[in-house]
Amino acid sequence: MMEPLASTEQVRIDVHLPDGGTLSELAGDTREGLARQLKELPPKYFYDERGSELFEQITTLPEYYPTRAERTILEQRGAEIVAAAGSPRTLVELGSGACSKTRCLLDAMRDAGCLELYIPVDISEEITRRAADELVAEYPGLRVRGVVCDFEHHLEWLPMNGGRLIAFLGGTIGNFDVEARHGFLARIAATMGPDDRLLLGTDLVKDRDRLEAAYDDSQGVTAEFNKNVLHVLNRELDADFDLARFEHRAFYDADEERIDIRLRSTADQRVRLEALDMEVAFAEGEDLRTELSCKFTPDSLERSYAEAGLEMTSFFTDPEELFALSLARVSG
Ligand code: TRP
Repeated sequence: MMEPLASTEQVRIDVHLPDGGTLSELAGDTREGLARQLKELPPKYFYDERGSELFEQITTLPEYYPTRAERTILEQRGAEIVAAAGSPRTLVELGSGACSKTRCLLDAMRDAGCLELYIPVDISEEITRRAADELVAEYPGLRVRGVVCDFEHHLEWLPMNGGRLIAFLGGTIGNFDVEARHGFLARIAATMGPDDRLLLGTDLVKDRDRLEAAYDDSQGVTAEFNKNVLHVLNRELDADFDLARFEHRAFYDADEERIDIRLRSTADQRVRLEALDMEVAFAEGEDLRTELSCKFTPDSLERSYAEAGLEMTSFFTDPEELFALSLARVSG
């Protein structure tokens, strides 16, 4: 009797999703992206139920090092990170999902004696509720105030109170193009007070073979994941993409320091998207870009921060220097 009562008081989840759901956004983004010279789809639509499962599988592949490397940093240096962030009482996590890496940070904050409030921010209400219930059971005294929203557009929903650690993990910032990245970092910076710190996960520049293997594994899971976005369009927009006539490609663009992920049409073909009343022609060999994944150096990261009005205060990496977690504050 005591337990469930206590946990409902400890958890509050606010939902701020648009009335039309994400479907009208998908329709608009698809219409716009397919009309471009180089056809393009925003990567957030990979993650329906099957896509999320496939991505989970990717994170366990021998070739896909980023998830493991980031976890290693959190496990080995969590205490240092929390100390360098000024022992914050509140952890805000953008794109919290199932909160699997979160526990490393919560552990470090608990051990430092500063942990009070966790604010997961995610697009999925179900996953956020489940994670919140689990966490209050695991961390006695923790309050969770979840915010269900599209954080790319609605940072204003985040509760403001000083001394927050705002974590954006997984290297997802690398999936924004330069312009979107600067806009997003600047909007985060605008919500930050002098005591807040941003904790940002970024994949690092390294040799081409290692990078490309991470995005084109030998078991073909990544290829299946990439093609899943066509499944999503077939289902949600009543489209007729033939998945057998698209091929997964991922290459490292060393000048731009990013992995460029595409689906290449293996034939001249026309695709009908019924819900958009739209027909799209693909030439044989034509690419549809599905994601960019930018890789960073300490220098390029500092420049990105600076352009957004932020200043890097610490830089943490794993022993192999594959991935980085860095802390930043508003410059002043
Ligand atoms: N955000 C992940 C990354 O950039 C997503 C990802 C991994 C991905 N493998 C992929 C996206 C393959 C598209 C295709 O590492």
